[in-house]
Amino acid sequence: MSSVMALTTRAPRGGVTYEIIDLEEPENFEVKLKPVYTGICGTDRGIVRGSLPFAYNPEGEDRLVLGHESLCRVLEIADNNLGIKKGDYVVPLVRRPGGCVNCSIGRPDNCSDGDKHEAGITGLHGFMREHFYDRIENLVKVSDSNISDIAVLTEPLKNVVKGFEVFDVVSRRAVYAGKDSTLDGKRSVVVGTGTQGYLYAFMSREYGFDTMAVNRHPIEDSNVEMLNSFGVNFVDYSKNEGEVVKGGIDLLIDTSGDPGTVFRFMKYLNYNAVAILFGTNGKAPEAQVDGSFIDYLVERNITVAGVVDAAKTHYETAIRYLRKWKYIHGDALSNMITAKFDPADTGVFTSKPHGEIKSVIKWS
Ligand code: BGC
Ligand code: ZN
Ligand code: ZN
Repeated sequence: MSSVMALTTRAPRGGVTYEIIDLEEPENFEVKLKPVYTGICGTDRGIVRGSLPFAYNPEGEDRLVLGHESLCRVLEIADNNLGIKKGDYVVPLVRRPGGCVNCSIGRPDNCSDGDKHEAGITGLHGFMREHFYDRIENLVKVSDSNISDIAVLTEPLKNVVKGFEVFDVVSRRAVYAGKDSTLDGKRSVVVGTGTQGYLYAFMSREYGFDTMAVNRHPIEDSNVEMLNSFGVNFVDYSKNEGEVVKGGIDLLIDTSGDPGTVFRFMKYLNYNAVAILFGTNGKAPEAQVDGSFIDYLVERNITVAGVVDAAKTHYETAIRYLRKWKYIHGDALSNMITAKFDPADTGVFTSKPHGEIKSVIKWS
């Protein structure tokens, strides 16, 4: 047993404390890891606020170490011959399999009975601690040290890669592309301008959609510029909803979890359109729809897909996109990391810094 400093919460009640915890040292450990950066996202803030009832502490414990987004360095490794060695950068997987069929084929993201765990979220300590132990099978290697400044974005980007895999599957039921076989002129609207909103919008451009990122308030000029540099337009829909819905929507991606907003834009989905619901916000206010809304979806063969988490393959693809985008856009992606905090700055869990895209904690 040793002691480390860690950022903890009492799930599902919430709160956040930077404190010393006991760390059990497994006898036959495979890898000892040290976080370099850990990212903070809406899930972490929801847990700290006590608004995500699905969060829980590891069995028999009274607290949960936070953190599921991280870039780590290998401090020690039992066997250097397994593709990963001391000093390597790695990203640990969030979700750990249970016993169901999807979990047993490497797809715990599609767990069929809920009997899996998520580091820093459900029943498993997360990565916001000075060091921790893990197994090699749970690590994805970042071989290109050129992207070590942005590789903490691998975890949120892996969700986007999975989201588009779902899009690929469900859009196949009819011809989705235009007559010229491309997605030119097809309109994608991404709701929300957090990290996930940006990354979904970038991938949407990568696919060839005309892409609009929207929110109900303005965002910083520098953030609009970053979206523009990836070919994405930004619209504040509280002022200009007409511009968002003109021409209808072929792909709607929601990162807000707000039913009022989702239903509002779903009414403009085109024939054979797809809506990907990614955001969660258990405390969002109720919103109503009537029968004509259902008729609208049915008559147009619209697919609505809920999408959560991702598998190891999506982390690997995410890393490839980070390398590609870094090559094409240079430092634009690093500018997504809008602030770096010390682990003791726990205020960042309760109030969002102005102009935030991604806030990270830097572990010295
Ligand atoms: C994580 C996912 C996780 C989800 C749980 C997200 O922030 O990226 O891996 O499944 O939270 O709601
Ligand atoms: Zn997250
Ligand atoms: Zn499962």
